[in-house]
Amino acid sequence: MSAALNRKLSRSRIHLTDTEFYFPTVYAGAADRTVMQNSTMTEPRHCHNFTSSNYLGLGQRPEVVEAVVEAVRRYGLGANSSPALAGHFDVHEQLCQELADLHGTPAAMLYNSGFAANLGALGALTGRGDLIVLDQAAHGSLVAGAKASGAELRYYPHRDTTALDAVLAEHARPGRTVLVGIVGVYSMAGEVENVAKIAGVARAHGAITLLDDAHGLGVIGDRGTGSLEHHGLPHDAVDIHMGTLSKTLAASGGYLAGSQELMDYLRFHAMSHLLTASIPPAVAAGCLAALRVLRAEGHVLSPRLRSRAQYFREELLGQGLDARGATAVVPVHLRTESQVIPVNELVLARGIFLSPVIFPGVPIGEGRLRFTISATHEEATLAAVAETLAECVREVDGESGRARRGDVELGV
Ligand SMILES: Cc1ncc(COP(=O)(O)O)c(C=O)c1O
Repeated sequence: MSAALNRKLSRSRIHLTDTEFYFPTVYAGAADRTVMQNSTMTEPRHCHNFTSSNYLGLGQRPEVVEAVVEAVRRYGLGANSSPALAGHFDVHEQLCQELADLHGTPAAMLYNSGFAANLGALGALTGRGDLIVLDQAAHGSLVAGAKASGAELRYYPHRDTTALDAVLAEHARPGRTVLVGIVGVYSMAGEVENVAKIAGVARAHGAITLLDDAHGLGVIGDRGTGSLEHHGLPHDAVDIHMGTLSKTLAASGGYLAGSQELMDYLRFHAMSHLLTASIPPAVAAGCLAALRVLRAEGHVLSPRLRSRAQYFREELLGQGLDARGATAVVPVHLRTESQVIPVNELVLARGIFLSPVIFPGVPIGEGRLRFTISATHEEATLAAVAETLAECVREVDGESGRARRGDVELGV
């Protein structure tokens, strides 16, 4: 290995002793139950699943599975071409039209992932000399897109619209393209953003607005159509709707929705759309079926999801735990970062699979356990899991003072 590469790798700030809990192998997928194994286990374990963003359980619905199987028979495995050449199939087109209908926009376009959608939009719409402004907790795909675009990137403190206004007042000027990326629902904290306020501030300064609603679709709004419905805003309250196929629509891929002119422009200028093969047609068919279930049943499934998540939050609070969030993401804050892995180890041994979050998922020193709830989780399971978690946290708390895994307490 070259000395330069060796130096780079040795500077990782990830706690190498803890990485064995990440990148597990998953043997079965469902929103509420799964079979998984990480490198600390000798065999796969059946678990209650709290790691999936398949929020409404649509990935396992018979009509979705059937649509995928039928599409594989019809189209084969992949699209095998860029959308510009031969990769845009009829089923991709149908999905675009129904996504556009869902958001009330004239058009929509697909990407390989939500990450690629953000990367493509920011890179196509801004460049050197331009400005992108993001909340400091914005998703990494917006940050990566902003950095790759070459535009100046400025952050404002989390959810501080006065600070956003000040950044724009100082740095926006006539002739400069300014884009404000808005996160509808924060993926780590489960908070709902005040989209109306931010979009209003951004527009007052002449900025382009992009709403990343990856965790809003299926989760908020009376019919589960996301942030704009939740806030009672019209579809044109933002210029660009960004969404993912990897959460409520239960597969993988991403999309942008907006005006026809915008989509026509992005088709040729967003490199992560133009220079890569389309998502497999069978994935598009599955997402289309999932989208149709959402449109038919969202008014029932989405409120059910919210009520299950709220029930779980209350059970956790009742157990004396620090549970937060207001959506299907339920973060439980621990006293210190050093408790995350020991607590995770204990709950996993008892069949609870969740996401332990330490740096770089959260700032250094913070420790969180992140639960994602699905409409298919049963209340009895949620109550039992809250009780088990509280026991495990107490057990680790009881061991404080005894250094575990060579880690140190980094403060509350
Ligand atoms: C807020 C947000 N935006 C974008 C993405 C990227 O979505 P995808 O998984 O489709 O790449 C995520 C995924 O976690 C997300 O949480």
